[in-house]
Amino acid sequence: MEKLVIEGGRSLYGSVAISGAKNAALPLIAATLLAPGTHVLRNVPDLRDTRTILSLIGELGAVWSREGSTLFIDCSDISYCEVSYDLVKTMRASVLVLGPLLSRLGRAKVSLPGGCAIGERPINFHINGFEKLGVTCNLEHGYVEAIRGDKLKGNTIYFDFPSVTGTENLLMAAVRAEGTTILKNAAREPEIGNLIDMLVNMGADIEGRGSDQITIHGVSRLRSSETDIIPDRIETGTYLIAVAAAGGDTKLTNCEPKHLPALLGKLSEAGAEISIEQSSISIRMDPEKRDGLTGVDIKTMVYPGYPTDLQAQFMALMTLSSGICLIKETIFENRFMHVGELRRMGARIQTEGHSAVVTGCGPAGLSGARVMATDLRASSSLVVAGLAASGRTEISRIYHLERGYENLVSKLGGLGARVWKENE
Ligand code: UD1
Repeated sequence: MEKLVIEGGRSLYGSVAISGAKNAALPLIAATLLAPGTHVLRNVPDLRDTRTILSLIGELGAVWSREGSTLFIDCSDISYCEVSYDLVKTMRASVLVLGPLLSRLGRAKVSLPGGCAIGERPINFHINGFEKLGVTCNLEHGYVEAIRGDKLKGNTIYFDFPSVTGTENLLMAAVRAEGTTILKNAAREPEIGNLIDMLVNMGADIEGRGSDQITIHGVSRLRSSETDIIPDRIETGTYLIAVAAAGGDTKLTNCEPKHLPALLGKLSEAGAEISIEQSSISIRMDPEKRDGLTGVDIKTMVYPGYPTDLQAQFMALMTLSSGICLIKETIFENRFMHVGELRRMGARIQTEGHSAVVTGCGPAGLSGARVMATDLRASSSLVVAGLAASGRTEISRIYHLERGYENLVSKLGGLGARVWKENE
């Protein structure tokens, strides 16, 4: 196993290009199962999770090749419909093939994801929605076996909570259902807009992109399509927070500033200088003036609120402030796994239920330590802390980071950080 080593305390200068969004690539790759022919997806990040979903659709019969960041996926011959526990346990988003397989083959058998480091994460909204479309779902031996009759039947589906992958799964199931499906209280994350764009390119008839009510008029045929994956807003946010924490002057290119309304506001409030162009964001935090970093409260919310996937990184930043702040997690029940590790680096954080109070200890407050990655975004908060801390930080279990950050070591190295991988 490999660990990440960071010699901290160096400011970050230069420019870094943002990759395509992992959380858009996963549903868009799953959506290729909906129609025969060769689909083209551009700007696809090469990550552990995208490789997992590609091997998954490969097992179902898809044939794919990659040229740079462009994927060619031929789904002419999809005949298998079972996804094993081994794949789902490494990546919960594997359940995203349920919707496309039900649409294309009429049945699917997918292992139920168990709980994970950040919470229970059930898929009851997905299953309830499929049942509304006329699917029979049986749960047995840890698998959900879903079977439709002749056709899926359009219906109105209300989400008790705007689930991101739930909305995506139901969208993919409904595009070829008979009649009209209305998704109410649907999630509005930009990745869902990206999926809708791809489905429309394939011939789907969808209204309400970007709103919490999506109307899908079922069509009888879909075709293969070409679609660009949107820039990764969580990777963008992580680099912005890293520069705010370590100090420096950095330009992030190939990104979409409109997808980060909450974070950009919070960073400015904390004292970072931000300037925005159409597809780039520059951030400046004078290393000499980092003691001016203000404590700023955040509360995670569904989009366009502050993203839960950037909560851990912002907490790492706040440990360096000169104030006190309150961080509230409202999306997942157990998303403070990074707190214990940040404390090992000198952070002063108290948690109670879903809230954490961070007492900033100033820009020189963190010192490098050996810490452990527990999940993808918790790990990136340790990278942020390690970059700002004095001395050497060693982060073990970096496979979590490799699930979601393309070329992390070379991108940070390009900004002047001293970061490398070593065998444990
Ligand atoms: C997606 C993202 C993940 C992000 C999360 C919230 C992908 C691949 N992953 O995860 O990075 O952190 O959105 O922005 O896009 N819930 C239920 N029943 C369900 C579904 C969800 O109770 O059937 C609950 C979850 O346990 C959680 C909340 O709803 O508490 C939100 O989950 P959801 O939006 O579904 O997250 P994911 O789609 O799994």
